Amino acid sequence: MQDVAISTNELTKRFGDLVAVDHVSFDVMRGEIFGLLGPNGAGKTTLIRMLCTLSRPSEGTASVSGYDIKREDSRVREQIGLVSEKMIMYDRLTAEENLRLFGNLYDLPNDVLSQRIEELLDLVRMKKWADQQIGTFSTGMKQRINVIRALLHQPNILFLDEPTLGLDPQSTGEIREFIKNINIEHKTTIILTTHMMVEADMLCDRVGIIDYGKIAALDSPRNLKRIISGTDTTVVELHIPNLSTGITSQIKSLGCINNVIVGDDTHIKVQAKGDDAFDNIIDCVRRSGGKISSVKNLEPTLEDVFLHITGHEVREQTSEKVKAAGPGHGPRHGRRTKKRIR
Ligand SMILES: Nc1ncnc2c1ncn2[C@@H]1O[C@H](COP(=O)(O)OP(=O)(O)OP(=O)(O)O)[C@@H](O)[C@H]1O
Ligand SMILES: [Mg+2]
Repeated sequence: MQDVAISTNELTKRFGDLVAVDHVSFDVMRGEIFGLLGPNGAGKTTLIRMLCTLSRPSEGTASVSGYDIKREDSRVREQIGLVSEKMIMYDRLTAEENLRLFGNLYDLPNDVLSQRIEELLDLVRMKKWADQQIGTFSTGMKQRINVIRALLHQPNILFLDEPTLGLDPQSTGEIREFIKNINIEHKTTIILTTHMMVEADMLCDRVGIIDYGKIAALDSPRNLKRIISGTDTTVVELHIPNLSTGITSQIKSLGCINNVIVGDDTHIKVQAKGDDAFDNIIDCVRRSGGKISSVKNLEPTLEDVFLHITGHEVREQTSEKVKAAGPGHGPRHGRRTKKRIR
């Protein structure tokens, strides 16, 4: 189909007994910014690596720009650019030399490559640093070069695996603006993984929440938030000037609590379920000696949806742990899902 950029069909990757990506079927439409959210180890990078032909699926398949990732891998690679979790650049080379080195891998004629390098450096406001060694750059400057490196051959589809990880707010803002511009001006389809819910909310047309290798929800950020609005889940922010760990743990021990986020020394955000949740929380704080100076009922955010769907325990599962626990352990050995989500 013409307007589908990526289509996955039961795509699966196993590492030993661990099912890192578990029979995933979904489509990304041309021109979309598509977000992949998920806890650590959920399978986001593994999914991207398969779509970029860097890792072979154990089962299932996918097409990228109409090309099959197993049978037409070199065609797929012509269509895509990848900014991976790890920056691969040479510190001793200048920004321009690094870009030229990678540009040469795409067999671009020298004059075309020179022009692209100049335009892209200009686009990320790095032209005046072109002749400086990458090793002297800040993380934000390096990441700007790293991102444009993936665009030298003008790919139709750009994969960005945590592009703003470790960047300060200024660099984060610039990279986000750049992503949006590339999408609008060049109609580039973008697949983005991030742990920043605000980023996904701001940039993405649709978001897939991946958990234990499966797509747990997929929709626009606005519709995803309705998942919470449509339930009896309450999100409240309390200002408690004498907030203590004792009060926090009393709140956490209430049966209705989904999630508690401590904002600063005096603010706490609580996500809870049930008609009496609001009253129970207030009673609990008072019983524990907390003095409430204000309470706000909040609109659900993408982070609330994320926690609602994935829970809030820290994920530590690895293939070794699964092996140690024996076959059949953990949700990753779950049933196949036949559902296609578009
Ligand atoms: N080459 C590998 N060999 C064995 N296990 C692997 C390999 N690559 C990934 N895994 C495992 O597969 C699971 C998914 O990993 P993946 O890197 O895709 O997660 P992720 O969603 O990208 O996590 P993060 O948010 O931390 O980047 C993890 O349990 C990881 O330990
Ligand atoms: Mg990852």
